[in-house]
Amino acid sequence: MDFTLPTLIDFQEIGSSALGYITVAEYQGNIPFEIKRVYWTYYTPNNLIRGNHAHKKLRQMIFAVSGNIEFYLENQEGAKFQFKLDSPRLGLYIPSGYWRTIKLSHNAVLLCLASEVYTEHDYIRDYIDFLNYKD
Ligand code: TYD
Repeated sequence: MDFTLPTLIDFQEIGSSALGYITVAEYQGNIPFEIKRVYWTYYTPNNLIRGNHAHKKLRQMIFAVSGNIEFYLENQEGAKFQFKLDSPRLGLYIPSGYWRTIKLSHNAVLLCLASEVYTEHDYIRDYIDFLNYKD
């Protein structure tokens, strides 16, 4: 698996329609970083755009455990990526250094596995600062 770019990953599912399903995310299996933080967001109003920031160091694996989530990603070179999470078995890997805007359906639950603990110092919240940022 190439983890240098944003990547949509099929985490597969174990089970059947008769039994229901389980999907597993595991360090050294399908997660390329030690998970230091987990957060989830929910009840986002329809049509609200979230995100509008980039991270200096943080890497993330993000799931829509329910509902639909659209991601628009951009790096400092101007490469643009668009992804839709519409199944709980799909994960979106986001490397550090991507400006993101995110649209969630109202019933969406976004689950994020994060490589770092929370610090506001890791955020770049101004788009021009993002374009000029050098690490
Ligand atoms: P933010 O990452 O800006 O959310 P979004 O990109 O979805 O709009 O976080 C929203 C608020 O929550 C912000 O004030 C910081 C706070 N927050 C924490 O305190 N800890 C965390 O782990 C996260 C992800 C956010």
